[in-house]
Formats: sequence, C-alpha cells, structure tokens
Amino acid sequence: MSNARAYAHTNIALIKYWGKRGQDDAHRALNLPATGSLSLTLDRFGTETEVRLVDDGEDRASLDGVALSGKELGRIQTFLDLVRARAGRTERCVVESRNDVPTAAGLASSASGFAALAVAATTAFELKATDAELSALARQGSGSAARSIFAGFARMERGVLDDGSDAIAAPMSVADGFDVRLLVVRCAQGRKKTGSTVGMQRTTETSPFYDAWVQTHAADLDDATEALAAGDLNRVGETMEHSTLKMHASALAARPGLWYFAAPTVSVMSKVRDLREDDGVPCFFTMDAGPHVKVLCRPQDAPMLVKTLGTIDGVFGVEVAGPGPAPRVMSPGE
Ligand code: PMV
Repeated sequence: MSNARAYAHTNIALIKYWGKRGQDDAHRALNLPATGSLSLTLDRFGTETEVRLVDDGEDRASLDGVALSGKELGRIQTFLDLVRARAGRTERCVVESRNDVPTAAGLASSASGFAALAVAATTAFELKATDAELSALARQGSGSAARSIFAGFARMERGVLDDGSDAIAAPMSVADGFDVRLLVVRCAQGRKKTGSTVGMQRTTETSPFYDAWVQTHAADLDDATEALAAGDLNRVGETMEHSTLKMHASALAARPGLWYFAAPTVSVMSKVRDLREDDGVPCFFTMDAGPHVKVLCRPQDAPMLVKTLGTIDGVFGVEVAGPGPAPRVMSPGE
C-alpha cells in the first residue's frame, strides 16, 4: 500500500486533560499527560486525511487546500518520522487533510487531525498497530487525539511508564441504554489566541493552582467513570462542570492569566445553570481552550436547548452531536 485515506471524529473531554508529565526533552517528545481524561467521541466534526508515499523530496502537507509550513508542517513531519521509524521505511509523504471542524477554535481539530493521520499513515506504511498502539502514537501528535481512536466514551490514563506505552485511551463501559447529546454552542469566530500546548505550559510554570488541579484530578476521573457505569447523567454532568471550571481556574491564575472565554461564553454558562436549577432541565457545560461551550444533555432536551441557547446574544450557532464511531480507513472510491 502506498496511499491511504482515513476519517476520524473529534472528541470532547468531559474530564479534562491540562498539563504535561515530565519536562525534559525525552518526555516532551512523548507528550505525556499530567492527568488522565475522559471523553466522548462525536458523530460529527472530524478530519479526512490522505497520505501518499513518494520516493523523493520532502514531506508536504495541506489543510483544506492550503499548504502548511513552519511549525504546523514541522509537527506533521515529526509525527511521520515516528511512523517511518517504526515501519523501517524511508519514503516521504504528501498529506492532504480536510477538516469538518473549525480549525484552532477550541473544537479540538487536533484530536481528529492526528487520529486520522495516525490511521492513514500506519495504513500507508503497512505498519500493523493495535488500537492501544495507535492511541499512544496519536498522543504524540496531540494528547486529545489518543482518545479519538475509540468510539463513544473513552478514558485516557495518565500512565506511569517512561516510554508512554501506558499513557493511552481505552473504550469505557456505560450503563445499557445510556444516551446523551452534546451541543456545540459557537460563541466566537476565528482562531483562538493561545493554543493548548502554550496554555498548559504557562499554567504548569506559573499557576499557584496547578498542583491542586493535578492532585484532585484522579477523584473526578473515578467519579465520572462510576457515574457513566451507573447511567447517572446528573453525576456525570456535575463532575464534568467541576472539571472544566477547575481547569479554567488553574489557567486563569497563570501569569499572564489565560482567559479563553468570550462574552457569550459566560452568558451560555449562566443560562445552562438557570435551566438546570430553575427549570429542572438536566444540562451541563464544558469549555476547552477556546470560547465555545459544549452542553451535555438528554436526547429529548436537545431541540429545546438548541432554540434557547441559539437566541443568546453573540451566539453564532448551535450544533447537536451524539456519540460517534472510531476512525475508519476509507475505500478508494469514497
Ligand atoms: O491535546 P490537545 O493539545 O488538543 O489539548 C487538549 C486540551 C483540552 O481540550 C483543553 C482538554 C482535553 O482534554 O481535550
């Protein structure tokens, strides 16, 4: 095989990852998380990536038809070097990606991007990899990508090994019939100002709340894991809100403070709380390194929430996603 195309969906963390484990070069290259995380892979928003092998020249990459250069290209080349080293191959690659996710807007395009690249590149280089190996590989591109290797709910372990082989995600068991929707409420347009890697590093180095974030994290992960197994949406949602607020609190206390919210972000958070506390609607918010709010709810409440949240001043749109599938290799005709 010398060409392969794959599609991977994005995922949203219910229990967040924020901060990296080990600060020396070897650990940095492995991109090890300081905490575990727990996520939902979505049935929309994703990346399609084609990898073509060529005998000469340099690696080239494009995203939505625009050639990548500098740091963005470097990140992909470093990733391809990992796959080449494992496969014992030397060919260069032409990588073409198409995003169904607004790039760098806090909608985790790097999660689907590196998951799709991991699957397409290993397939093109005929490298046999288990899901656990793919998850570890995707993590080296982007921490959140390790979770997009799996369908539905996935739990990522922080791991303890120096080679990172146990810092991987795995599918989770949830109660029979447990179903949710995740609403993506767009609160701004354009690219975010501070990417997650820089944000995590600044929080680690300067926030007085960072240690507390790391130390209290495992309890949230276990709480959410138990709540999912029991099918207890209220407990999942409350733990999810706690995790995102704690992550943002640690980032806010960095120097200079990291403020990912836009004005409508705060309005949406308040509305979600009001709907829950005053009207009894089980809905819960979470935010990543960007201004958008993701709202977890029951399927039957999604249409009402789309209408209600969509009319908030400054909201650009609301999209509904459900639990989605694992990445797939696409056939040539697709
Ligand atoms: O792996 P990255 O660089 O996409 O970082 C993800 C960071 C958060 O989205 C804020 C949290 C998470 O666990 O996805």
